[in-house]
Amino acid sequence: MPELVPVLSQDEINAKVAAVAEQITADYRGSELVLIGILKGAFVFLADLIRRIRLDSLKVDFLRAASYGNEDRSSGEIRLTQSLEIDIARKDVLIVEDIVDSGLTLTFLLKYLNSFKPKSVKICAMIDKYERRKADIRVDYACHTVKEGFLIGYGLDYAENYRNLPGIYHLKF
Ligand code: IMP
Ligand code: MG
Repeated sequence: MPELVPVLSQDEINAKVAAVAEQITADYRGSELVLIGILKGAFVFLADLIRRIRLDSLKVDFLRAASYGNEDRSSGEIRLTQSLEIDIARKDVLIVEDIVDSGLTLTFLLKYLNSFKPKSVKICAMIDKYERRKADIRVDYACHTVKEGFLIGYGLDYAENYRNLPGIYHLKF
């Protein structure tokens, strides 16, 4: 059995998500914001985040990105298995990700989203994991930053398991 080492408790997550939501509310006051959740991993984080953002114009859409390759890292060969439904032209877009690792997934998604000519595109991630970053990606809003390690829980999976855990753990193989 792999070992689960606690990284963030449910209470710590709540406090961090609230702080980021407050910052987003302040930064986007008066704008038309479209949050784009990246499935599957971001669904738990997005559900908590949207309920704490106080804006008059806030829409939600989803993209689903799948990466070929092994289960613990992105190959950089990304394909979209679900595309956008909302028109994001001239809108402020905020991508909501579970975790940013190499940044290859986001590089691909930024290119796709920019093709619709949004007014702005920024990135919000539950976890910014920076040690293996390969692409020039800056996370604009990160709830938590880690150097390394494979994390699970709160939407994050290992081979599709553990998404249901309310806290975030480091999975030690
Ligand atoms: P990137 O393209 O390397 O930035 O990888 C991003 C995607 O890889 C994330 O959206 C996750 O689906 C997955 N991923 C990367 N690191 C982890 C991790 O520590 N736990 C779970 N999934 C991860
Ligand atoms: Mg993901």
